[in-house]
Amino acid sequence: MSQATELLSIVAEDIKHVEEKMRSGISDQYTDLQSVVDYLVGAGGKRLRPALTLMAANFYPVDKEKSYALAASVELLHTATLVHDDLIDNSLFRRGMPTLNVSWTPGATILTGDFLFARSAQLTAQTNNVRIVNTFSETLMIIVGGELNQLFNDGHGNVPSEEQYHHRIYAKTASLFAAGAETGGVLCNAPETEVRALRDYGYYLGMAFQVIDDILDFKGDEDHIGKPVANDLRQGIATLPVMLFNKKEPNHPTILKAVRREKVSDEEILAVVDKIRGSGCVEASMEEARRFAQQAQAALENLPDNPYRQSMHGIADYTVTRDI
Ligand code: IPE
Ligand code: IPE
Ligand code: MG
Ligand code: MG
Repeated sequence: MSQATELLSIVAEDIKHVEEKMRSGISDQYTDLQSVVDYLVGAGGKRLRPALTLMAANFYPVDKEKSYALAASVELLHTATLVHDDLIDNSLFRRGMPTLNVSWTPGATILTGDFLFARSAQLTAQTNNVRIVNTFSETLMIIVGGELNQLFNDGHGNVPSEEQYHHRIYAKTASLFAAGAETGGVLCNAPETEVRALRDYGYYLGMAFQVIDDILDFKGDEDHIGKPVANDLRQGIATLPVMLFNKKEPNHPTILKAVRREKVSDEEILAVVDKIRGSGCVEASMEEARRFAQQAQAALENLPDNPYRQSMHGIADYTVTRDI
């Protein structure tokens, strides 16, 4: 059993129900949509966000069906953002499988993402809880805002500041981790201080998670992680290792060109990626990810001790040691 599977085993049975919900709710008239949703759900993924949502939702007795709907809505929201993100980034594979944009037109890919967003909203509504629906709408607005900032270059042609980077990774990733954990707590009527602790946990975990995702883009193994690497800088996106490298060696011509969104050759990108790998900046970025993971674990101290909390503690460790 892999480390992730073991940590998520406490909700493994529930996740099966969640996946069933993710595939359901599509009219018989839309057979293409059903097959593409089956393809996306079948491709798997770590299922970290729905697992965390379910753990948070189980701190107190909960309506199980509603917890499945909530967790399915979180994972479908994530899936929808990936469908659109891969089209925007022109990424050709994910989870070891060809992305939709490889075989479908941009129009069909966008519409599939739209459908998933709508289905996610509908599942959220099945909780019958306006606060949860509101948190979800807000989170989706934050994610889209973050992706737009990144697209329009949050460093405005420069390597971004730490503050700009933190805002970006919060918006694109940590916001959904925070929302999933928070709404799980809301669903099971956890006391407000505990809802807050769950949100903080999700926030810090999501920050650690995205720093590691950015590191994996530098040193990950394509076949193993199932998605392309060295892609961020190629898109003109400067992440933490680049930012730290830029402090040591300012104005590297390739980095400058990339963040100005000027054309950079593959050789130039690979040469600077190699240089950054050898500079110690990837390890320094790891330190930052570890600090976030520790803050996530500290937030758990404000929650009752139970097997769910213990799994969440382990997930924070896993997040910073993962290689996928
Ligand atoms: C990928 O998320 C997108 C990011 C926010 C980094 P995951 O690494 O959780 O992707 P899956 O769901 O496991 O494929
Ligand atoms: C994707 O971030 C985050 C969202 C889709 C909101 P990335 O672009 O870093 O994700 P990967 O690396 O393609 O999985
Ligand atoms: Mg991407
Ligand atoms: Mg990435």
